[in-house]
Amino acid sequence: MQRLDKFLSEAGVASRRELGAIIRAGRVSVDGQVIRRPEQKVDEHAAVLLDGAPVCAAAPRYLLLYKPLGCVCSTDDPRDQTVLDLLGREGEGLFPVGRLDKMTEGVLLLTDDGQLGHNLTSPKKGVEKVYLAACSGTPDQAAVDAFAAGLTLRDGTRCRPARLEILGPGQVRVTVHEGKYHQVRRMLAAVGAPVDALLRERFGPLTLDGLQSGQWRNLTKEERSLLSDIF
Ligand code: URA
Repeated sequence: MQRLDKFLSEAGVASRRELGAIIRAGRVSVDGQVIRRPEQKVDEHAAVLLDGAPVCAAAPRYLLLYKPLGCVCSTDDPRDQTVLDLLGREGEGLFPVGRLDKMTEGVLLLTDDGQLGHNLTSPKKGVEKVYLAACSGTPDQAAVDAFAAGLTLRDGTRCRPARLEILGPGQVRVTVHEGKYHQVRRMLAAVGAPVDALLRERFGPLTLDGLQSGQWRNLTKEERSLLSDIF
């Protein structure tokens, strides 16, 4: 649900200010009823007509970025470059779905689809995130078992069961279903293997798939439908 004036401005009908007058003049109907309040909430599937002609909601946007090291995932930051700065005009209206630390790189989804963003970050949905880490030290089998059982961090935070794979000396893959603050770094530190470098290689069904650091592309139709299949 969103405000009628926002719905119409996102559909490119007119500016929010102009829309106030248009709506109050009784030129807009929703599901057959004239609505004169710009703040009235409308469903995304509602039939909205302006002067009797249907208005189509703007299609939501989904963009996959290989987040480079050194930029932050907030939408605005006084000091650091943000992922939106990186995207320029393409990033207007988008927000990152979940966060990666400034010094973590890899798969980052950006969208203006608030409902999908909310679903993908909801702890209830438990979307799988997969990270490659270079660590100082190599975790042992006891660490693998502790991850599988659900690790308790040094400050008492309890993590859900996670998968730790040892790939080689100081090289691991970690799969988690939640997104606590600095989670992977804190989990590996808790088993005596502090992280030197961290890359997210997968977020749900989305992988970097040939993208280079700093590059982005729109999701394919298949990727969008895989995301919707999660719910
Ligand atoms: N876990 C971390 O520690 N950092 C990230 O950026 C993502 C997951």
